[in-house]
Amino acid sequence: IAPPQSVPVVVHVVSAEDGEGDVGRERVEQQIQVLNDAYRGVYASGEEATDTGFGFELTEVTRHSDDAWFHEFSSNRDTIRAELHQGGPETLNIYTADLGSGVLGFSTFPQDVESSPEQDGVVVSYDTLPGGSRENFDLGHTTTHEVGHWLGLFHTFQNGCESPGDYVDDTPYEREAANGCPVGRDTCTGRPGEDPVNNFMNYTDDACMTHFTPGQAERMVQHWAGFREPRV
Ligand code: ARG
Ligand code: ZN
Ligand code: CA
Repeated sequence: IAPPQSVPVVVHVVSAEDGEGDVGRERVEQQIQVLNDAYRGVYASGEEATDTGFGFELTEVTRHSDDAWFHEFSSNRDTIRAELHQGGPETLNIYTADLGSGVLGFSTFPQDVESSPEQDGVVVSYDTLPGGSRENFDLGHTTTHEVGHWLGLFHTFQNGCESPGDYVDDTPYEREAANGCPVGRDTCTGRPGEDPVNNFMNYTDDACMTHFTPGQAERMVQHWAGFREPRV
């Protein structure tokens, strides 16, 4: 089994009627570039620079100007996704809107695609795209992180210090989410390794996030093959 070189991506830009959130084509393209770079290992150096093999290709940008959809995406999310979703399990649908002050993004998991195919996809706050106004989260790694969930990854702090953690062997255990960039933190003292604060599946600042591990890459490829890869 192998990772796909060009996952088709449709970006649905939901904006307010006064134009807020109507992110331009250029910033959408920059977001896809960040996504590709992240999955190719460009943000890390040395042996941390995992090339997952996944590649993403922007196929369409759709635009929707609607105040209720934009400002209350979360309460309308099932309706919005059912109306806008395109393609099959292999197509990455990304929705941008205003998710409120506490939420950067959320995603469905590969296991959900069979029962709710039209809900499949990732949602990110429009101001997290590269060059956005979300402080500390303006480099585009909210999308990197959510696509990790879309490909079957859990947070690095899943299950805390308890087995099976995040179900990935080469990410050290971590008791709770890390914020900011607490390099050297070690919250599971009985377990090997410092907390994976630079991992894309943590809660640290965008500038702190640099990589996935080979184990995470393998888990994503398995989920791709098991749930998303088109069968010939
Ligand atoms: N909290 C969100 C989630 O659990 C996203 C976190 C993204 N972090 C970031 N540095 N952009 O899916
Ligand atoms: Zn997450
Ligand atoms: Ca682990």
